[in-house]
Amino acid sequence: MKFLTGETEKTIKELMGKYEDPRSALLPILHTVQRDYGYISKEAIEEISEILDIPKVEIKGVITFYSMLREKPAGKYHIQLCRNVACYLNGGKELVEFLEKEYGLKPGTFTDNMKFSLSLVECIGQCEIAPAVQINDKFYGNLTPKKLKEILSKLEG
Ligand code: FES
Repeated sequence: MKFLTGETEKTIKELMGKYEDPRSALLPILHTVQRDYGYISKEAIEEISEILDIPKVEIKGVITFYSMLREKPAGKYHIQLCRNVACYLNGGKELVEFLEKEYGLKPGTFTDNMKFSLSLVECIGQCEIAPAVQINDKFYGNLTPKKLKEILSKLEG
């Protein structure tokens, strides 16, 4: 059964038409699927692999390389916490502990209300404001558990 349908399928076709080699459209296609479905599922990877004639393992490699792409569903606000040295030694570790204690949030899990999910990622390019997190497409830095709590409380509304 087809998995990528409707607008998503239409966009994929358009993207493939933009390149001489349709396989060059892989990255924009992955972004489209994530935008439309929230994540890139096993079924989506299989279908993209067939459409573009790219091995699944290669597609998974691309997804792993780009921290904004994910293979699992995420909460409404997906927190990506940098685990690289500059962040981790500068308070990142405390942020991880805080999220688990306050929100029951461990890497790879959701809060019960599905509002927040967490993953630990490699450097997100915000080392000068370590420790930093990316929540959806926004960056926050110079964080302490208190500051992070304020941010999350605002998002929670
Ligand atoms: S080390 Fe954390 S953003 Fe670069």
